[in-house]
Amino acid sequence: MKHLVFATNNQHKLEEVQAMVGQTFELKSLKEIGCFAEIPETGITFEENASQKSRYIFEHFKVDCFSDDSGLEVDALGGEPGVYSAHYSGSRDTETNMQLVLDNLGANTNRKARFRCVISLILDGREYFFEGSAEGEITRERSGSSGFGYDPIFRPEGYQNTFSEMSQEEKNKISHRAKAMDKLVEFLTKRASSNPQPHSV
Ligand code: IMP
Repeated sequence: MKHLVFATNNQHKLEEVQAMVGQTFELKSLKEIGCFAEIPETGITFEENASQKSRYIFEHFKVDCFSDDSGLEVDALGGEPGVYSAHYSGSRDTETNMQLVLDNLGANTNRKARFRCVISLILDGREYFFEGSAEGEITRERSGSSGFGYDPIFRPEGYQNTFSEMSQEEKNKISHRAKAMDKLVEFLTKRASSNPQPHSV
């Protein structure tokens, strides 16, 4: 089985994607390859940040790998918080960051927003990108208690509920991350079937 490093320490994300790639690829986390460094994320786009992480792993560990970067883009805020989603207010506190988005939007009637996720994959020395997005709008107030980050103030297009009012399963069918991961998995699966690994009989 081919090994592939997922540049994350989020075990939940790792297991979710492992289930998608099944028997074809065995995913390893950063911890499993002995990478405990704070990998720089200084880009101004999701592409740059995802690329920075996978290139760092490739350069230091010489392994096939992929990484993701994601965040919320609000049209009326010129695409903010964007790559700064995790620390928009200067702190990593989710409540404070969410409140800042609501305050900055105020009574603006243009509430259009999207979550975006970009994956950078380095396989056999070449880099590939995969992207997924979920269109929707920012609600006037928080609702729901599940999920993480900006989930309580994001209502996906065509739905009555925020991400935070959905089950994990429901969110995973339409989320930016799931869409980008689906593209990655489709690519890897095709690649494995057109490039079979030697096996004994
Ligand atoms: P990361 O790419 O997983 O590090 O996510 C960056 C930041 O974007 C997170 O800290 C969240 O604030 C926000 N974010 C990304 N994906 C989601 C999501 O599915 N729901 C809510 N917030 C998200």
